Amino acid sequence: MSAVIELRSAAPRHFLDLKDFSGAELRALLDSAAQFKRTRRSGKKPLAGRTLALIFEKPSTRTRVSFEVAMRELGGDVITLSSRDMQLGRGESISDTANVLSRYVDAIMLRTGAAAKLHELAKHASVPIINGLTELSHPCQIMADILTFEEHRGPIGGQAIAWLGDGNNVATSFIEAAARFGFSLRLGCPEAHGPSRDALAWAKAQGADVTVTTDPRAAVAGARGVVTDTWLSMADSPDDAAERFAALGPYQVTPQLMALAAPDAVFLHCLPAHRGEEVAAAVIDGPASVVFDEAENRLHAQKAILAWCLG
Ligand code: CP
Ligand code: NVA
Repeated sequence: MSAVIELRSAAPRHFLDLKDFSGAELRALLDSAAQFKRTRRSGKKPLAGRTLALIFEKPSTRTRVSFEVAMRELGGDVITLSSRDMQLGRGESISDTANVLSRYVDAIMLRTGAAAKLHELAKHASVPIINGLTELSHPCQIMADILTFEEHRGPIGGQAIAWLGDGNNVATSFIEAAARFGFSLRLGCPEAHGPSRDALAWAKAQGADVTVTTDPRAAVAGARGVVTDTWLSMADSPDDAAERFAALGPYQVTPQLMALAAPDAVFLHCLPAHRGEEVAAAVIDGPASVVFDEAENRLHAQKAILAWCLG
């Protein structure tokens, strides 16, 4: 009885941002992800009887399908909700929503714009909350990215990775990953679309090897991995698209820029991609591209995250 009470009152295991974890904890999650990948068809159902709620305030293909399949393959159940279908969309508070859902489900994943909503949900929920993307970060994605890089090129620690283009939410999670996994990250971004100053200051305080340049050639020189993302994120206003695209044009990942990276450099992109914008078709559809392994690895990485959150 006392063990049950203790379990119920223990703080829920949220997965909100990579910086909340030590390098060793993230490494253990990646080992677990690799194990889930190797044993995908084992038939084991460690999450039988558990239910995950997925709440989308923004569109998704990969995050939605990979979480649904992950939960089902682990024996659990899933409820996918759009905030439009919920009272949340009509002004019910996040705290009441957190308290109510905590009585029904065992974990909640939220994709939303404002990071404050995610943190409010985590503050009031008594079940684990998973960050499925906010305008500030996308930690589940980067766990899949590291898994993918390491499958193709071995341990990422000490390697040089280049980020080209918009210094967006995915870039912030990459900055946090550089500190935690000990790789060198060079961001090539235009002045007006550089990475989060807070993330850079945090990385500096952690002693991470993270540098920013406006020269895309310098960013990719010798890099073992080249990463980019859309120039217009879901949180960005399409009204600014012309200005953004003009500033970001020189940062398109082209075969010419890839030729400056290490000869065996891999190309990563969280998808959805826009050929002819942030990446040339010859790169994303070429031999260096590992983007579909990366998409698949969302499934395996999230199984590890779910298994950890659900204890
Ligand atoms: N990479 C990613 O999060 O894709 P979706 O927006 O399709 O979920
Ligand atoms: N930076 C993109 C990632 C999409 C998965 C966005 O926020 O729209």
